Amino acid sequence: MENKTKHLVTAALPYANGYLHLGHIAGAYLPADLYARYKRLRNENIIFICGSDEHGTAIEMSAMKDKVTPKEIIDKYHFANKKAFEDLGISFDIYSRTSNEIHHKTSQDFFLDLYNKGLLTKKTEKQLYSEKDKRFLADRFVEGTCPICGYEEARGDQCESCGSNLSPLELINPKSKISGDTPIIKESVNFYFPLESFQPKLEEWIKSKKNWKSNVINYCQGWFKTGLKDRAITRDLDWGVKIPLKDFEGKVIYVWFEAPIGYISATKELFIERNEPGKWKDYWFGKDVKLIHFIGKDNIIFHALVFPAMLMAHGDYILADNVPANEFLNLEGGKLSKSKGHGILVKDIVKDFNPDVVRYTLAANLPENKDADFSWDDFQTKNNNELAAILGNFINRTVVFAKTKFENKIPARNTKSDDILEDIKKQSKVVADCFDNYRFRDAVNETMNAVRMANKYFNDNEPWKEIKSDKEKCANIINNCLQICYSVAILISPVLPFTSERILKILNCDKSNFEWNKIGDIILKDGESLGEDEILFPQLEIKKEEIPAKKIIAEEEIDIDYFRKLKLRTAKIIECEAVPKSKKLLKLQLKVGDKKKQIVAGIAEHYKPEDLTGKTIIIVDNLKKTKLMGIESEGMLLAAKKDGKLAIVAPETEIEDGGEVN
Ligand code: MF3
Ligand code: ZN
Repeated sequence: MENKTKHLVTAALPYANGYLHLGHIAGAYLPADLYARYKRLRNENIIFICGSDEHGTAIEMSAMKDKVTPKEIIDKYHFANKKAFEDLGISFDIYSRTSNEIHHKTSQDFFLDLYNKGLLTKKTEKQLYSEKDKRFLADRFVEGTCPICGYEEARGDQCESCGSNLSPLELINPKSKISGDTPIIKESVNFYFPLESFQPKLEEWIKSKKNWKSNVINYCQGWFKTGLKDRAITRDLDWGVKIPLKDFEGKVIYVWFEAPIGYISATKELFIERNEPGKWKDYWFGKDVKLIHFIGKDNIIFHALVFPAMLMAHGDYILADNVPANEFLNLEGGKLSKSKGHGILVKDIVKDFNPDVVRYTLAANLPENKDADFSWDDFQTKNNNELAAILGNFINRTVVFAKTKFENKIPARNTKSDDILEDIKKQSKVVADCFDNYRFRDAVNETMNAVRMANKYFNDNEPWKEIKSDKEKCANIINNCLQICYSVAILISPVLPFTSERILKILNCDKSNFEWNKIGDIILKDGESLGEDEILFPQLEIKKEEIPAKKIIAEEEIDIDYFRKLKLRTAKIIECEAVPKSKKLLKLQLKVGDKKKQIVAGIAEHYKPEDLTGKTIIIVDNLKKTKLMGIESEGMLLAAKKDGKLAIVAPETEIEDGGEVN
């Protein structure tokens, strides 16, 4: 064991401020688990590390919104997510949390190491400070008018209306989101990590990674082309890992600097639990260790560039062997988005469905090279046409045959081996090759092909006929099929761990021969009794309206009632003028039947006010009122946009204002 390559497998630490959804699972956790389970079956030395990411402004903000402490937020989601992972069979060796003492200490030591090496630079910068709140107002803690589009509730880091990236200092009329106080500008000193100076080393390192996925390589190349910039690694916040230096009270280490160090802290914790406290070093400083980060594509920069640079800066640590990042999972054709409630939560789906069916559907459809889609139709098809029809069917027909014709015992075989067992062994090598190369979709498909081969063997050998003519031959066939059942239990166990256990129970078998290399071997002994048979995958008929998640998630497909909520009406433009100091906005006075309305529209770059007066257009009449650059807007006009062009949508022939559009 000790001399073997060690595998240090990590999966991105999820934020403890929301529930896990299927997008998270398909992005990082399921592929990581498939890999870890497979490696364990091969008796490889592997540890699988994860935990909750519990700092950052998003968590502080959620706490503020819910009027609770950050600690209450992280406790709630940490335990909920830990349980959801367990229910889905994600087999971490440890699920730690970054609020643990050991993590604070580990990241502070890491920070100090770089500080003492003189690698960190200090910069004095202007920041917004609220005297009332007695704190600096980072990104999300301020709100104000967007300098680009005039939206009045723009966040300090981003305007949700026009999508522009902002810095708090750019906001017009900034206000504290905590107290509403108007902040002042105050200087603050923060530390920077010299990422720019690591670019040559990183480029060389990435160049040596011939087997990395092209999406990851391309992403890194993109960053190299733009040029890496030094990064601020401290923040003026309370919630987080404190900077371990005098004169820096009230500041914490930036969450993205300390969170990946969480992989190290969690490894330490794991080996403390195992009573081998020094052993973590064998992994992080060891010679023959493969560090593999499973992540979603939004985390590539941190795992393929920033964290490796941090480890290089520290020295001694190993660097990632691979970063098999996945693309995104869509849902019924629409983008998953937590903020829009478009998603299926793990905790919900495992309550209603067999977790193995969830794992299988996702695994067969992982967004490995491009975005993929989860749909309920596919989920049902996978259950009924693959898991039930191929896998469940093979196990069931074999076991039922033994039960009815051979007294529920394993009938005696009279051959040493058989071609079919050899074929299954060969096929297991094909599957292994997929797992070893992070091709999990293929692994699932090839696993199923092995079961298809088993079914074909059953069909071709017609044991139901042989039982009448040659009982010994029949016994041999069924013995083979039962041996294959055991092999299949091993083969499917990375993808379908719960089902695998159930098959062992049906076979009345323990796990003493449960390893990858025994696939295709003769394990079950003649004459042993079988357990009780059961239907592994009952038929599913999912009625869409019964799925609660489905209702909130329809982004692409909506029903007519949903559409009818939009009150679209024709409106006549009576007056139109430019909004002072704005490049984009026009103010329009409208007549909508017997109503008058004022709206503000971002079309000034495409239309002159004088061209619009007198036109009939289409507006969303029942939109909530809002203010843009201090001007009230009571609706929005419809316009088509493509490739930078914009055209107002108007009725095709003359029609009165106030008309309904549907
Ligand atoms: N919490 C981050 C996210 O969900 C991932 C952190 S990964 C780590 O996007 F490496 F920083 F831990
Ligand atoms: Zn904006």
